[in-house]
Amino acid sequence: MRSSTTDSGTMFSFLAILVSLLPVASASTSYTVNGNKYNVDEVITRDVTILGGGSGGTYSAIRLNDLGKSVAVVEAAGRLGGNTETYIDPGTGTPIEVGVQFFHNFTVVTDYFARLGVALTTVQAGPNPNTSVITSYVDFLTGLPDPSYVFPNFTAALGAYAAQLFQYPYLDLGFDLPSPVPSDLLLPFGQFVTKYSLQPLVPFAWIWCQGIGDLLATPTIYIMKYLGLSSLQSLQEGFLATALHDNSLLYLSAERVLGSNVLYNSTILAVKRTNDYVQTVIKQGSKTTLIKSSQLIVAIPPTVQNMKVFDSTHQENRLFSQFTYSEYFTALLRGTGIPDTVTLSNVSPGANFSLPLPPNVYAVDQTGVSGLVAVTYVSTTATVGDEIANLVVEQIKNVQVEGKGVSEPVYAVKSNHRPFELRVDAKAIKNGFYADLYSLQGEKRTWWTGAAWHAHDSSLIWRFTEGFLSNITAAV
Ligand SMILES: Cc1cc2nc3c(=O)[nH]c(=O)nc-3n(C[C@H](O)[C@H](O)[C@H](O)COP(=O)(O)OP(=O)(O)OC[C@H]3O[C@@H](n4cnc5c(N)ncnc54)[C@H](O)[C@@H]3O)c2cc1C
Ligand SMILES: *[C@@H]1O[C@H](CO)[C@@H](O)[C@H](O)[C@H]1NC(C)=O
Ligand SMILES: *[C@@H]1O[C@H](CO)[C@@H](O)[C@H](O)[C@H]1NC(C)=O
Ligand SMILES: *[C@@H]1O[C@H](CO)[C@@H](O)[C@H](O)[C@H]1NC(C)=O
Ligand SMILES: *[C@@H]1O[C@H](CO)[C@@H](O)[C@H](O)[C@H]1NC(C)=O
Ligand SMILES: *[C@@H]1O[C@H](CO)[C@@H](O)[C@H](O)[C@H]1NC(C)=O
Ligand SMILES: *[C@@H]1O[C@H](CO)[C@@H](O)[C@H](O)[C@H]1NC(C)=O
Repeated sequence: MRSSTTDSGTMFSFLAILVSLLPVASASTSYTVNGNKYNVDEVITRDVTILGGGSGGTYSAIRLNDLGKSVAVVEAAGRLGGNTETYIDPGTGTPIEVGVQFFHNFTVVTDYFARLGVALTTVQAGPNPNTSVITSYVDFLTGLPDPSYVFPNFTAALGAYAAQLFQYPYLDLGFDLPSPVPSDLLLPFGQFVTKYSLQPLVPFAWIWCQGIGDLLATPTIYIMKYLGLSSLQSLQEGFLATALHDNSLLYLSAERVLGSNVLYNSTILAVKRTNDYVQTVIKQGSKTTLIKSSQLIVAIPPTVQNMKVFDSTHQENRLFSQFTYSEYFTALLRGTGIPDTVTLSNVSPGANFSLPLPPNVYAVDQTGVSGLVAVTYVSTTATVGDEIANLVVEQIKNVQVEGKGVSEPVYAVKSNHRPFELRVDAKAIKNGFYADLYSLQGEKRTWWTGAAWHAHDSSLIWRFTEGFLSNITAAV
């Protein structure tokens, strides 16, 4: 008997080793979440689950980790960083930002970079400092230059705009708006410009607020969020960027700190929030994982598409379904036929302020690497798959300097930032949309951050996120 027990024991541990060597999928247990059954291969438990490893999600993860809380970051991509993306030109080794360029000199920013061991330097935003590169104004739809176009001197108008902005200091902190919401904030920006004679500011505001789309039709509040007090201050005193001119270094460092607590290449299947805990079911390849946590941070854009896996409340659905957004496409190209000595800025002669209407190219800029140019483009209607990349190439072929169709532009890198600039209409804002949105904060163990909750500005998002971390650490 003993010997046979020993044999079966040996056999058991042999099997256990075998099983442990098999893909984990063989040991799945089934769980029902939001009414659907999932065969779960692994269950992990963390204090906080963070959906999205972009600007807001990565900041949350590093800070909570440092505050002694365990985290799981669920990220769709194979890397952290979201809209921060850096291309390294293989020929010269030059890093070129395809996304986030610079930050504000805030304590949260300098502390965060210091924590992750990434050195910062001061940089100036604005036109290409290389005086050998001249800006030419051209209509990308026709390819015709507009030699009569003069970019206005906007210094005085920027001062007048700043005087308006100073009346709304709370815009720099989030969307905690007074009630009633000041009516000037709800005016289409075109009307606001007329009311305060800010006409010379328009071309600059258009270039600054890339990705919004129809600048003049957009409620003024969104322009003031994008070109806000912190940006005006940084325009004056300098922005911060990484000393090595590679903002992705921040995220590479965060990847090392967080290690296997980031679940890359994830698809979120279900999110359930009960009175006692949060359950998140994700899939990575063929592996399904259930994450149990006390609290949830949602740092992905709260679009209907992203939220459909949630056990959403009626109020969450009502609010999130009101968001519209655009697609902001940025890319680097070779073989455009555009000389290294010109930046092409898009104008639409005959339109108000000569502003092109979306879908449109903003500009084709020089990168400092010969033959490699940067293009920015916006669409306010949804594109499918890679369609937007083809639309951009068509417009670039229109402006090829030696004649249309002389060469075939080739993408070195391309990135469609969608959804970009989640927004609602002026009527919704007037009716308290943002008060309702902010009242979701902390409800159902759920904390919300990211651009939709503040602005497309990493520094502002980090400061906003910092504001609720103590609520989370107190709750865990
Ligand atoms: C081209 C460009 C230039 C910019 N320049 C600047 C700048 O110079 N300075 C500045 O401060 N800001 C800049 N911004 C704005 C700023 O980067 C963004 O506002 C910021 O990235 C928003 O942070 P976020 O956390 O909301 O979203 P993101 O950083 O976009 O992060 C969201 C993350 O969630 C992931 N995700 C999305 N959906 C899902 C899902 N369903 N499941 C799992 N994961 C998901 C994404 O892959 C992404 O990693 C720029 C933005 C763009 C697009
Ligand atoms: C994510 O998926 C990509 C593409 O399949 C793969 O190349 C990459 O290694 C994956 N990353 C991780 C961290 O699993
Ligand atoms: C940020 O501002 C502080 C003053 O508030 C200044 O001492 C510091 O040099 C600035 N940092 C950078 C990198 O410019
Ligand atoms: C722009 O306008 C400002 C203020 O009106 C003026 O001081 C400045 O000299 C002008 N700049 C140029 C280049 O004309
Ligand atoms: C400025 O641009 C010219 C033209 O492309 C280029 O030859 C030169 O190297 C650039 N200078 C710097 C400092 O980048
Ligand atoms: C200019 O803007 C006004 C309102 O702001 C609009 O009615 C008009 O159609 C616009 N004109 C053009 C040419 O787009
Ligand atoms: C977060 O905590 C602060 C300080 O305790 C409190 O004033 C605030 O109401 C809390 N916020 C939420 C959304 O619970």
